[in-house]
Amino acid sequence: MDTSFERSVNTKVEWLTPPELVKKLGVFDLDPCSPINAPFLHAKSNFTIEDNGLNKEWFGRIYCNPPYGNEMHLWLSKLKKHGNGIALIFARTETRCFFENVWNDADAVLFVKGRIRFYHVSGLQGGTPGAPSVFIAYGKENAKALKESGIAGRYLDLKL
Ligand SMILES: C[S@@+](CC[C@H](N)C(=O)[O-])C[C@H]1O[C@@H](n2cnc3c(N)ncnc32)[C@H](O)[C@@H]1O
Repeated sequence: MDTSFERSVNTKVEWLTPPELVKKLGVFDLDPCSPINAPFLHAKSNFTIEDNGLNKEWFGRIYCNPPYGNEMHLWLSKLKKHGNGIALIFARTETRCFFENVWNDADAVLFVKGRIRFYHVSGLQGGTPGAPSVFIAYGKENAKALKESGIAGRYLDLKL
């Protein structure tokens, strides 16, 4: 089992969401943190590390599987303020990132059953990580998309 990415603080590490999962969530306008040499794209527009997607203006419906590391909460914070999109992060429910950006702010979460096998930029699927993942929806339409996605897991509405 390769868990090196989970421990890494190198934000250039590329662990890509399986495209078949993102497709279940509908069409996205922007992925603000996409690889430079992407084997597939999740959104109509894409920022890379060369653009520094964190400092750009975000627009439309966002899909965000942010770079791992200490700045992850900044990506979630920006998505929270934007209010329209879905994030994918590890289900570290005790963290600052979760408490400051998810529990009181997101519309819904979907804890994924099992472990996601992320892709490498080579286009090959990697091993399973050492942690579970969670999708986080901001905005009612995104909560609905999560709920109706058919992705195996446990959906929780946080704004009941
Ligand atoms: C965990 S990967 C996810 C990639 C893609 N969003 C996906 O889900 O398939 C995080 C990506 O963020 C990119 N990245 C890192 N820092 C960035 C920055 N400042 N602006 C834009 N992208 C960045 C990395 O190159 C990497 O491709």
